[in-house]
Amino acid sequence: MEKIRKQLIEELKQAKSSQDIENIRIKYLGRKGVITLLAKETDFSKLSPEEKKSFGSRLNDLKNFAAEQLALAAESAKSSDIPKKIRELDLTMPGGNHRLGALHPITTVQLELQQIFQGMGFMVLQGPDVESEFYNFEAVNIPGDHPARDMQDTFWLENGMLLKTHTSAAQVRTLERFGAPVRAIFPGRCFRYESIDPSHENTFYQCEGLLVDENISVANLIAVMKTLLSEVFRREAKIRLRPGFFPFVEPGFELDLNCLICNGKGCPTCGDGWIELIPCGLVHPRVLEFGKIDPNKYSGFAFGLGLTRLAMMKYGVRDIRLFNSGDVRFYEQFAASL
Ligand code: PHE
Repeated sequence: MEKIRKQLIEELKQAKSSQDIENIRIKYLGRKGVITLLAKETDFSKLSPEEKKSFGSRLNDLKNFAAEQLALAAESAKSSDIPKKIRELDLTMPGGNHRLGALHPITTVQLELQQIFQGMGFMVLQGPDVESEFYNFEAVNIPGDHPARDMQDTFWLENGMLLKTHTSAAQVRTLERFGAPVRAIFPGRCFRYESIDPSHENTFYQCEGLLVDENISVANLIAVMKTLLSEVFRREAKIRLRPGFFPFVEPGFELDLNCLICNGKGCPTCGDGWIELIPCGLVHPRVLEFGKIDPNKYSGFAFGLGLTRLAMMKYGVRDIRLFNSGDVRFYEQFAASL
């Protein structure tokens, strides 16, 4: 053992690089290393108890010693491995330019919404993108012959599932899972089989909201929408509420926002000066029933905020296609908002 120890020290002295040291480590401590074999090949049964004890402890010392010396040598080899060029780095030189990354504008708006709603006691949930016909349509009271079910609108998968066409698909999932009372938002991606133009995408984001409790009325819905809009825009945003039809709400509304790109004058993004931003309404009793909630005891409201549209309004983005374009020149403009 003493011989091995001396030899190891000698070899470490000669080592010039991390690779040399690694080779030495393998030679001594590797699976077939000198020290490893010494432990393996010693026939302990031939030793007396005292001999066993002292041999064992010396062997251990040697192993620890070797490991320690190797680690020290490896540490100091690291610095001598650094190429000369880097060692001569002049720390007084001015730094280079580093490009800042940025959150995707939709992510930024989503995080902001989450914060606002968490402040009002809402959970943040997420439904699956690949959804069943049941949750996407039937459970939200969209019967088989409803136009929203047309092949034109939905991406069907070969196995009979579909890509969720709206975040409302998670409404009944949420009711089943949490029962009532419940308040949750579920931001997510939606897919529709549509041709794209400056204001239509086949892949876009919505943020669904669902609140179910006793005695919930349209007044509660409007109060929450008002809080939401004033927090998001931090300035007065003109809105209008008009009746809207969705099979899963009754009554249903369209909450339109006066276009912030053209100030309501009318432009290619909004058309007539108004943007349909938040379709909403009181949850249809049938939806509650699908979620095993008693509609005689509970009522609620739901909304399906257009997250992508909201991002367009907030940042003055005129063309929805930019969001999924992958064009860094677009994304870079949001770096300052970090
Ligand atoms: N899911 C509807 C859509 O995508 C929007 C909506 C959600 C309407 C919730 C009312 C209530 O068009």
